[in-house]
Amino acid sequence: MFKHLMGMQWKIITIFMLFHPSLSFSPIHNGLNGAYFRVSAHHFPPYQILTQGANGNFSYVGSTPNIIYWMAEKFNFTYTFFPVDSAESAKLGSVQAGLNQLIKKEVDISTLCIVPTLERAQYMEFSYPVAIESYKFMVPKPGEESRLFGPVRPFQYPVWGCLFISLISVLVAFTISAWCYSRWNPMPTDYAHGAWDKLSIKIGNYAMYIASTCTNQGQGMNAPQNSFRILAGVWLLAATVLVNCYSGTLMSSLTLTKFKATINSLEDLAASQELTMTASANSVMAETMLNANSTTLKAIGNAMRRNPDSIYLTPEKGLHNIFSLKYAFATVESYMSYLINIDLKRTGECRFHVTDRIPITEPYTFGLEKGNKFNQLFSEKYCNVFAQMHDHNLFNCLGCSTYGKQV
Ligand SMILES: *[C@@H]1O[C@H](CO)[C@@H](O)[C@H](O)[C@H]1NC(C)=O
Ligand SMILES: *[C@@H]1O[C@H](CO)[C@@H](O)[C@H](O)[C@H]1NC(C)=O
Ligand SMILES: *[C@@H]1O[C@H](CO)[C@@H](O)[C@H](O)[C@H]1NC(C)=O
Repeated sequence: MFKHLMGMQWKIITIFMLFHPSLSFSPIHNGLNGAYFRVSAHHFPPYQILTQGANGNFSYVGSTPNIIYWMAEKFNFTYTFFPVDSAESAKLGSVQAGLNQLIKKEVDISTLCIVPTLERAQYMEFSYPVAIESYKFMVPKPGEESRLFGPVRPFQYPVWGCLFISLISVLVAFTISAWCYSRWNPMPTDYAHGAWDKLSIKIGNYAMYIASTCTNQGQGMNAPQNSFRILAGVWLLAATVLVNCYSGTLMSSLTLTKFKATINSLEDLAASQELTMTASANSVMAETMLNANSTTLKAIGNAMRRNPDSIYLTPEKGLHNIFSLKYAFATVESYMSYLINIDLKRTGECRFHVTDRIPITEPYTFGLEKGNKFNQLFSEKYCNVFAQMHDHNLFNCLGCSTYGKQV
């Protein structure tokens, strides 16, 4: 019985291997052989660089067009590139202009890396994801905190308050004990001054003594009574610990450069008075923030609405916004490195801070013309390419093999 089951399992696996699309690598029997695609072209460095010449010719290079070049060679299909209309891009924004190519059925495949949404699914289809990446914020580097108040920083304000009260209490304790001694054991010289004058001189001495101990100067005090010595001694012990604690903390806090607090999450951005999020018009990010109902996202969206410049039409305007240091920009790490690199070359300094991950992860897909008969096949073939480029386990984990069954 068990043997029988094992045999059946092997048969199923063999059949699966024969017919599973991700394992049929043959360039001949691939279904795309001889097909023709109209493919969109976009300028979005560093992933895709579209250089247009004066006589209408252009070159299209980068990692995204490379996928098309590689697949065309491997699966023997032909293609023509259709650059997105630059006038439309300037007017409606590069995202909408790119989507319009699909809506107007001017292209079969859009290399504008598109995040699938239900709304977009009304007029287009999506390939297997080209990338699935999580986002971080790129924000202007916070300024250094002033060192003017450095000496105050080791203790919190309430601690300073308590210390002040305790110093006054010690002074009062010293004075009261001195007053008691003079009442019980008057010195022969006492008649030379009035009792109050003498006490005020003593208070002055005690204050000097306390101040010099706190500043680590170590001034002596004339105290003939043992009980007074014990009182002063106990206080000295506490003061030594405190003073050493303070100077140690002060030393380390002055050596370390301390930066002002900055944005590290969506909540920080929602609460921020200085920074607004910047995002491409009609992008999923901009739409999400502008239409959000949750408190945090709504606050970010409202700030963007108050500052219409934060929603940019073209990537060039986006760069302008980001480099103006007035905005927080949510994006993937590879794009951030590219931007920071450009800025570093231009200004010679690192002006940005990259935050922790924010809870946004988006898949990017090729857009496919709605209803095109090659869509399913193109996606499956791209899946093959993806599987060869990446670890097979990762590919299964991402659900590539179940492509087409997912919404
Ligand atoms: C590749 O496609 C072309 C038509 O575009 C066809 O003539 C050629 O035979 C195909 N090559 C192979 C190896 O099938
Ligand atoms: C366009 O063609 C001209 C001449 O044929 C050539 O010199 C130029 O480099 C080309 N431009 C691009 C962007 O390919
Ligand atoms: C937010 O609320 C409005 C009105 O209540 C609703 O029309 C809209 O669909 C909601 N948006 C989201 C993203 O839930």
